[in-house]
Amino acid sequence: MRMVDLIEKKRDGKELSSEEIQFIIKGYTDGAIPDYQISALTMAIFFQGMTESERADLTMSMVESGDKIDLSKIEGIKVDKHSTGGVGDTTTLVLGPLVAAVGVPVAKMSGRGLGHTGGTIDKLEAVEGFHVEIENEEFIKLVNQNKIAVIGQSGNLTPADKKLYALRDVTATVDSIPLIASSIMSKKIAAGADAIVLDVKTGAGAFMKTLDDSRELAKAMVRIGNNVGRKTMAVISDMSQPLGFAIGNALEVKEAIDTLKGEGPEDLTELCLVLGSHMVVLAEKAETPAQAREMLEQAIKDGSALEAMKTFLSSQGGDASVVDDPSRLPQAKFVYELEAKEDGYVSEIVADAVGTAAMVLGAGRATKESEIDLAVGLMLRKKIGDTVSKGESLATIYSNFENVEEVKERLYSSIKITASKVDAPVLVHEEITE
Ligand code: URA
Ligand code: CA
Repeated sequence: MRMVDLIEKKRDGKELSSEEIQFIIKGYTDGAIPDYQISALTMAIFFQGMTESERADLTMSMVESGDKIDLSKIEGIKVDKHSTGGVGDTTTLVLGPLVAAVGVPVAKMSGRGLGHTGGTIDKLEAVEGFHVEIENEEFIKLVNQNKIAVIGQSGNLTPADKKLYALRDVTATVDSIPLIASSIMSKKIAAGADAIVLDVKTGAGAFMKTLDDSRELAKAMVRIGNNVGRKTMAVISDMSQPLGFAIGNALEVKEAIDTLKGEGPEDLTELCLVLGSHMVVLAEKAETPAQAREMLEQAIKDGSALEAMKTFLSSQGGDASVVDDPSRLPQAKFVYELEAKEDGYVSEIVADAVGTAAMVLGAGRATKESEIDLAVGLMLRKKIGDTVSKGESLATIYSNFENVEEVKERLYSSIKITASKVDAPVLVHEEITE
């Protein structure tokens, strides 16, 4: 096989075979095929697209390019959840204990990463003593025992995707649905998921800004998953504003605890119930999403979801007393209110910009080397559609430095107020099962 012939084939809109795709991904991972040929190929894919079987082959070739996590010693169907990214997305912290409480095994491999706030692991480290440096055996034992454990990323997962993503980033080929879909799915499958629930965000703060694009991405991922034998479904949810109120590490841990107590923000609670219901169904612990939802609501009501959170935290060295006393979480030195300058209705909360304001406070990493301040961040006091009176708080700023003028300015320009009534955005747009 010659790479140049395969580029030509894709350029002319023909379908690549399984063997050809395996040859490309193996050659690229090994270094036998150079970046410039893969650049030409990804550009051809950008214009010509990929068929369903090409997408499945690309996904599985990337899975095979590195280590795969073996979760076979964990009893039950391992359902993973993936969100396509957003601002203040606390769903993972809620969903883990919530579905574990009804018997769904949650074997989560998580990362730190760059962003407005830390990743799931950073957030959990706001709990004194909590750590994810555990051996694989311990991890598996904990999931079998408690139905939930989190381990840090280890091993060499999907190296082909890492190389390809970095190359796409500098060749204007990130925005290709088949390439995005196979990139995301390859990582979930390599991490050991038997079934996958996807939370595809849509709106100003999301990777996909329009409902059409989000739907197309969701469908592409659901098809890949089902074509490679992993039951997969997707929920398209709103990210035109941040989810919940908290944006920050310790603040989000507290918000997750509140939600598990049944006292969380309405939107976060609802999305967790929707996503959680599908996880429970895919794990075959309930027949229908409605039945699953009842089980989850019951777990919140009777305290078993909260109990699962405590067990989870203490099993990994964490101080579980934060669940009853969240004031034990890291606290910021300075607290300021962002007072509304006029009366009206909140019409916009630009999620990206609010996220950046939290990052300026130190809640997230701008570069890999940045240190996160777990105590700081923002609590929104209003959501789109809410009425506001002049002087009322739009958000609370938790900071470890005294001067927050820049943060305030950023927030004032991203939280917009109008005189006329505004409807709250729809939270769950669609559910895609194929
Ligand atoms: N996220 C990914 O993991 N891969 C992509 O290609 C795009 C977003
Ligand atoms: Ca939140």
